Amino acid sequence: MHAQITLDQIKETASALRARLAIAPRVGLILGSGLNALAESVENAQIIPFRELPHWPLSTVMGHSGQLVVGQLEGQPVLVMQGRVHYYEGYSMSQVTLPVRVMQALKMETLIVTNAAGGINPDFTPGDVMLITDHLNLAGMAGLNPLIGPNLDEIGPRFPDMSQAYDRAYLDLARAAAKREGILLREGVYAGLSGPSFETPADLRFLRVAGADSVGMSTVPEVTVARHGGMRALGFSGISNKANLDGSTITTHDEVMEAGRVITPKMEKIIRGFLRSM
Ligand code: HPA
Repeated sequence: MHAQITLDQIKETASALRARLAIAPRVGLILGSGLNALAESVENAQIIPFRELPHWPLSTVMGHSGQLVVGQLEGQPVLVMQGRVHYYEGYSMSQVTLPVRVMQALKMETLIVTNAAGGINPDFTPGDVMLITDHLNLAGMAGLNPLIGPNLDEIGPRFPDMSQAYDRAYLDLARAAAKREGILLREGVYAGLSGPSFETPADLRFLRVAGADSVGMSTVPEVTVARHGGMRALGFSGISNKANLDGSTITTHDEVMEAGRVITPKMEKIIRGFLRSM
């Protein structure tokens, strides 16, 4: 899966979108499995189905609707992606991250990503929200980095720094927002795998010793591309299930969707608080 999105294609998608937008969004939000409801709180919402935008990858997964919701959230002009695509759907990493490239073409400054994830840290319980302080780019280490291919020099450098993938000042604002709302906010390292099979118990024990607190199948490509183009990133994992390091229970997509119902209101409060204080 190596289809490369070109700078011309990015510009084409961005112009098609810009032509329809009533406002200039500043903050992009990508919503994970079962976490789509936040888009429903956007005010003066303009809805743009992904299929109406050239080159935009279309989601094939249950629980991911495919549309952009553009409007205001806590006074900030936001562009919310209700649904995202994953590498395991058969798209290239370049296609998976086209939406972030389009945000950059629109001169947006901030990317907030949410995902559903397995909880590897034994202190975590399904329903918890985890602030992502760093990630393990495991797919990237295996050769699936979204920046592989000709560098888009107009957007960013060949060898971008990733020492502060998640913006330090944003981490503090998110912590403060959770505290104000009285919500327990876990913190940790997210391990990004390709999926779609869930991990074996041996995979999970490996991830635990490697320093992972949560594990999922998204987010890392989008944040890598965001940083390449100089956007500031903030990310949250909704812990939908306990990673099963001894093989005694099974993990299902239904369980992931169900946990989203508990996680969404907490995530919404934290993200709203963050946007207010930005
Ligand atoms: N593993 C990987 N991805 C996931 C999980 C998991 O346990 N839960 C939700 N997304």
